[in-house]
Amino acid sequence: MKENVPTSASIDAEEIKSASTLLKAGQLVAFPTETVYGLGCDAANAEALARLYRVKGRPGDHPVIVHLASIDQVKDWALEVPDEALALAEKFWPGPMTLILKKSHKVLPSVSGGQDTVGLRIPSHPVALALLREFASGVAAPSANRHGKISPTNADHVKSELGDLVAKVLDGGQCAVGIESTIVDLSGESARILRPGMITMQEIEDVLKNLPGKKNASASEEQAVAPRAPGTLSSHYAPSTDLKLFSHQNLPRAIATAENLMMKVAVMAFSDPIKCTAIVTWSQLSEDPAQCARQLYATMRELDTSGADYIIAEAPPDLPEWMGILDRLRRAANG
Ligand code: TXA
Ligand code: MG
Repeated sequence: MKENVPTSASIDAEEIKSASTLLKAGQLVAFPTETVYGLGCDAANAEALARLYRVKGRPGDHPVIVHLASIDQVKDWALEVPDEALALAEKFWPGPMTLILKKSHKVLPSVSGGQDTVGLRIPSHPVALALLREFASGVAAPSANRHGKISPTNADHVKSELGDLVAKVLDGGQCAVGIESTIVDLSGESARILRPGMITMQEIEDVLKNLPGKKNASASEEQAVAPRAPGTLSSHYAPSTDLKLFSHQNLPRAIATAENLMMKVAVMAFSDPIKCTAIVTWSQLSEDPAQCARQLYATMRELDTSGADYIIAEAPPDLPEWMGILDRLRRAANG
């Protein structure tokens, strides 16, 4: 965890109480999670959900994740809790994983996006957990950014983007994970990864394969882009400046091309800086995937304001621990 993330001892109990009271009153509260900041509302309040969709500018048929404080609450929101769900929950919750399960009758259509499933997650950030415990019910929360934009990883990102539109922004410092949760769909015949994240497909499979006679994780690269999670739409996670993604090998050529075209570029790369007049700024990405994920969105935001004609990003290695980051860079490049 980063040093500026509050410990449970340093959390202001009055702040948490007031945030929970606002949620009970149907207001919107932005709060930190270990992945990215969420824009929360009472998941059982249709009016609050309508407000949330309006503020976020999100199409009404996109489902939102319901955040919970404990595994006991899962049965209130899911029709059934398969053994696979329990095993994954015990291993990875609280933490950066979302489970898609068949929804219970309690789940409003605006939470499920009209589908028969619900996304559930217990986040590990101490402020999120304190809020969820105090609220004692499900908090629906998409990432606290405008639809299609970059997810916020600190409170300033949220304030600059949503400012007065939310009743409160809880400041929990810098998000320790930095990209959104791994989404595992357990509502069908076999487990599927709908969105890769910092918990890898291999880690999910390792848990599922130990369950005798159960459905295996047949999550494949192909299924990882299954269209059921609108987070897979190309417009997601994108800076306003065009972002182009290049392999390590093609990076020098991409920069030379920019120079030939007399374009100004901002670069985010693992490689050492290349000297070239086309480059207005060079952001060094960490070769450690966890560290890289933590920096990723803040770096994109920074480069978005650099005045460059476009952003050149170097792709990470095609390895399991980099899948979440590669996925977000690909989506940013498609935006
Ligand atoms: O790390 C995270 O997951 C963050 C933090 C705030 O928890 N939340 C987040 O929410 O990324 P959002 O709404 O920006 O992305 C959630 C993704 C969307 O792509 C949505 O379509 C998918 O989860 N999702 C939610 N419920 C679903 C369901 N029932 N079936 C399929 N996909 C679902
Ligand atoms: Mg989002």
